[in-house]
Amino acid sequence: MDNDIRADLLAEAAAKLDRAQRVVAVTGSGMSRESGIPTFREAQTGLWAQFPPEELATPEAFAQHPARVFGWYMWRRHLVDVAVPHAGHHALAAMVGHVPCFDVVTQNVDGLHQRAGCPSVIELHGSLCRFRCGQCGGPGEVEPVAGATPTGEVDPPQCTRCSGRLRPDVVWFGEPLPATALDAAWKAASHADVMLVVGTSGLVYPAASVPVVGRRSGAYIVEVNPDRTELSSIADVVLRGPAGVVLPRLLAEMESSC
Ligand code: OAD
Repeated sequence: MDNDIRADLLAEAAAKLDRAQRVVAVTGSGMSRESGIPTFREAQTGLWAQFPPEELATPEAFAQHPARVFGWYMWRRHLVDVAVPHAGHHALAAMVGHVPCFDVVTQNVDGLHQRAGCPSVIELHGSLCRFRCGQCGGPGEVEPVAGATPTGEVDPPQCTRCSGRLRPDVVWFGEPLPATALDAAWKAASHADVMLVVGTSGLVYPAASVPVVGRRSGAYIVEVNPDRTELSSIADVVLRGPAGVVLPRLLAEMESSC
């Protein structure tokens, strides 16, 4: 895979990044694949290939089967707790020091960009690391569950204010994205000189529109993904390979041309 990355394209992308004033990295679950966190739509290993989203990731599913849904999220939180950022996360965080303004707009709920040291991370789909009351919306604390499994049922704790059920602070199907995050993403995209689109299939909206907005506003688009996606056609340069390989090479290229 490493050998498939064309040196001329890598150099072109690095030169654009080096000259940019504003860079936005738009990331999806492929960004965290090499940290051991599954993607959603990959055949066999993707979460939605193994677990029906309508039974686990909707407000209706939580209302009908709270322990099943909460248990599944406690398992996903456990995966995140034991994961560590990989070389690609660290490379993105290091790029921040080369560009005056660098935002990450992520669909990921794992907090790995923050743990790698990225200072500006806009979370479009919430976070597995936070919980809130499904009734009053207030924040809640939830202890990790030892030995959490995808099918293990866990009763959601009660909210200390209103006795509602705590839920993960993630966006479920049918729910709107957090308005502040979405506004920040549109703003960042419309001012970007360069956008790095890493590890997303580009199938889920409105997140998939963020690179499109950037492109319409004149941003140079670099896609990093081992496979072709719905967003490949709007990319100026496509670097075919895994994030953990491509991003460190892109950073090295930027640093060698400084
Ligand atoms: P998908 O599963 O749809 O796509 C994952 C992408 O990652 C694919 O394009 C893969 O080719 C790519 N990929 C796999 N391994 C990679 C690697 N090592 N490096 C780089 N790319 C790699 O996941 P998302 O696009 O993130 O929403 O899905 C978007 C949303 O759909 C998620 O946020 C989630 C889901 O439903 C919610 O849960 C609200």
